[in-house]
Amino acid sequence: MNTPGSTPAEHPPHGAAVRRGPFRAGERVQLTDEKGRMNTITLTPGGAFHTHKGFLLHDGLIGSLEGTVLTNTSGQLYQALRPLLSDFVLSMPRGAAVVYPKDAGQIITMADIYPGARVVEAGVGSGALSISLLRAVGDSGYLHSFERRAEFADIAQGNVETIFGGPHPAWKITLGDFQEQVVEQEEPGSVDRVVLDMLAPWECLDAVATVLAPGGVWINYVATVTQLSRTAEAIRADGRFTEPDAWESMVRGWHLEGLAVRPDHRMVAHTGFLLITRRLAHGVTGLTTKRRPSKTDFSAEDLNAWTPQAVGEREVSDKRLRRVARDASSTIQRGALPADEAQARRDQIADAAREVDGPTES
Ligand SMILES: C[S@@+](CC[C@H](N)C(=O)[O-])C[C@H]1O[C@@H](n2cnc3c(N)ncnc32)[C@H](O)[C@@H]1O
Repeated sequence: MNTPGSTPAEHPPHGAAVRRGPFRAGERVQLTDEKGRMNTITLTPGGAFHTHKGFLLHDGLIGSLEGTVLTNTSGQLYQALRPLLSDFVLSMPRGAAVVYPKDAGQIITMADIYPGARVVEAGVGSGALSISLLRAVGDSGYLHSFERRAEFADIAQGNVETIFGGPHPAWKITLGDFQEQVVEQEEPGSVDRVVLDMLAPWECLDAVATVLAPGGVWINYVATVTQLSRTAEAIRADGRFTEPDAWESMVRGWHLEGLAVRPDHRMVAHTGFLLITRRLAHGVTGLTTKRRPSKTDFSAEDLNAWTPQAVGEREVSDKRLRRVARDASSTIQRGALPADEAQARRDQIADAAREVDGPTES
């Protein structure tokens, strides 16, 4: 019988070992100065962290413990810690809006993402949510992420490999449109949870209904009320799902200083809305809602308004995304990677990218 806590030391879950012990070359370290300003550096033997007030040698950090406080050449103090996941996702290379840590926490809990779950996700974007999903399903789970743009898949792969110290055994990325690919690649009724963060989740309704197991959870993260409304009405009209629920979360930090204890003046006021529903058993008709809206249809004008620009999505050029992808893969801790496996994954993505996009600019 296992003693609680003994197994992880012998067989640590993927990514755990790289988050413990003394600092190693290749790791990202967060330096905080006496004014609370933060800088994240990647430890390189012989490297230095320069500011206008002197510099700090990386070699002084390599081999020392987390929480160490060091002095630079001008006597400035720096506290050194590994970035937490919430720090990492807000500072990692990205090409599109990421799911904020507060929303990732809601998604994991409210969609009941558990160790060993079979989860499908789209789009991958920069991989922020993929990282939280992988942590939640664990090594024995399964996360199949779908992304229509190859450059985003590259960025996400770089970020995932950086945080886990190499490829994650439960992760698979497929390039292409979720609604087309997922039904080709997953058995009907075999998926426990579906997580969508994309412009038009309503286009995925049939695909989700096909792959989701009875009782399975489908959660959507959308940025605008128009997307929220259209997705909710599409789910209701379909009849294969339970009545959807929607909410948003707001997190307000507090200023703590002596007797001056009060909410912060500024906060992230809006990120997105969450919409959740569950798959009914096959052939079952859902309970009808008691408060039907009087008008659920959309005019042709409404439908034409759902363009990325109209809902405030920034168009990002392929060239810019390729640059971010290079940044993301250059931060991978190569020392912690099984090199041949990591290279095979990179080649696979690069081949797929060429198939989707044609030859890339040099
Ligand atoms: C906002 S980003 C996702 C951010 C990501 N969840 C994160 O936390 O980093 C939306 C992504 O969805 C992708 N996308 C949109 N529609 C898609 C579809 N039907 N199938 C696959 N990917 C899609 C876009 O290319 C974009 O990368």
